[in-house]
Amino acid sequence: MSRTKGDSIVGKKPAVGAGEKGKRILCIGAGYVGGPTMAMIARKCADYTVTVVDVDAARIRAWQSDKLPIYEPGLDELVSVCRDRNLFFSEDVAGNIEQADIIFVSVNTPTKKSGHGAGRAPDLQYWEKTAREILSNAKTDKIVIEKSTLPVRTAGAMARILHSGESSVRFEVLSNPEFLAEGTAVSDLELPDRVLIGGRETDSGRHAVAELVKIYRHWVPEERILTTSVWSSELSKLAANAFLAQRVSSINSLSAVCEATGADIQEVAKAIGMDTRIGGKFLNAGIGFGGSCFKKDILHLVYLCESCGLPEAADYWRQVTEINEYQQRRFVAGILSAMFNTVAGKRVAILGFAFKPDTGDTRESPAIGICKRLLEEGADLVVSDPQALENAERDLSEWEGKVIFEKDPYKAASGSHALVVLTGWKAYEGLDFARIYDSMVRPSFVFDGPGKLNHRELHEVGFNVYPIGKTPLTRS
Ligand code: NAD
Ligand code: UGA
Repeated sequence: MSRTKGDSIVGKKPAVGAGEKGKRILCIGAGYVGGPTMAMIARKCADYTVTVVDVDAARIRAWQSDKLPIYEPGLDELVSVCRDRNLFFSEDVAGNIEQADIIFVSVNTPTKKSGHGAGRAPDLQYWEKTAREILSNAKTDKIVIEKSTLPVRTAGAMARILHSGESSVRFEVLSNPEFLAEGTAVSDLELPDRVLIGGRETDSGRHAVAELVKIYRHWVPEERILTTSVWSSELSKLAANAFLAQRVSSINSLSAVCEATGADIQEVAKAIGMDTRIGGKFLNAGIGFGGSCFKKDILHLVYLCESCGLPEAADYWRQVTEINEYQQRRFVAGILSAMFNTVAGKRVAILGFAFKPDTGDTRESPAIGICKRLLEEGADLVVSDPQALENAERDLSEWEGKVIFEKDPYKAASGSHALVVLTGWKAYEGLDFARIYDSMVRPSFVFDGPGKLNHRELHEVGFNVYPIGKTPLTRS
């Protein structure tokens, strides 16, 4: 069933529940974070009315339809339970600001492409625009919550903008960063490791924090709700992403050492991960991290360190992104070297384009750079992915004519010299590789970026197998 444009709490009777007598939550920004996060709040807090607004009308229409704008396991069901009950999507940003008691801001915070700090500093134009929109439309006091990932002290800047007018309306700004990962967003939101809330140590700050805690307490145990200063909360978000990305770069740097020495990266990861002080998660070597946030957040941390006069700290974190790029270059170099130093005119099947499995998101996907490098070498690519083909087509649009987009991995592989696996979709582990091998050009190669396939079996079928961080299994 499709919904009509402009569904919103404005002009509608809000859902009034037992506890909060219909307190109105607004989220500005209906993206990968705003949509799922608000759907979970609406699902768990039937006593609140939740509206999500965006300037992107097409995105709002998609949230109102049966084909949501993002793919995320469990999201369709979550949204369908509460949409039009106490969850609404609307293009009317101004009207909904006026009505709201609590405003989450979940707009995009990309890296600046030009000007001062280009390539490192966060581009805060969307953020500041939102602050000014809140200021112009608010007629009653509001709690404003940073959901976007922002540099330390942004909440202070927002408070200054919000209190810069003539109006007597008061705003309390909190930081409540989001830790969900794409592909597991619904379960991450339902069972978060922690919810972090940063607020000021003033009466109004403590009151605002208590209001937000009350929302999360509908389903999150008290001991998992952590309250800190605003600055600690803002920095913790950048730090968490930097630490996670650092683990990926650490294991990827060791994968190069494994290939040079004959050690096996999966054995090494298991051996170090069994040390409970290290832990086994986030130690999968691969083609490098992608996604809209790791690179940007590390670069923003680098910029913050530089701005604080801490060049050594900046260099330390910058290296995490440099190893990430090195890993992608290394992967392509390995493909070329194995395929007799040329892929020119060869059909190469790319299995997976999303930056990780269970999402259609391709933002900063390593697949983009790897495919472009292979195209520059003259390869004819056939790109396959269960969810990301639309985005892949857009990402590779400048190579129109040189790339075929094919959802079916068997059709993609047919007639190819090589399979290049770039996303660890579970479905790829169950493919009939004997059938695939029969349809390919000899000698046939598999380059397994995520390292999830059964390499011995692939070798037995006839492939030359090149996993990351392991000795290749070749055939004479
Ligand atoms: P996104 O690009 O998917 O969504 C942002 C939305 O904000 C867009 O739809 C855009 O049209 C809208 N927007 C921008 N300016 C606006 C304005 N003035 N008024 C109304 N709408 C406006 O971004 P995202 O992936 O949801 O990320 C949002 C923030 O959350 C970022 O700071 C990101 O770092 C952070 N974050 C993202 C993830 C993730 O998994 N994607 C996880 C945790 C945190
Ligand atoms: C990451 C964090 O995990 C979230 O906590 C955070 O909220 C989010 O960033 C954000 O701020 O946007 P996400 O990027 O969606 O989430 O996905 P991850 O599971 O962290 O994977 C990121 C990248 O690292 C992917 O390309 C993935 O393939 C890669 N990765 C991850 C590895 O190469 N090896 C691993 O062991 C783990």
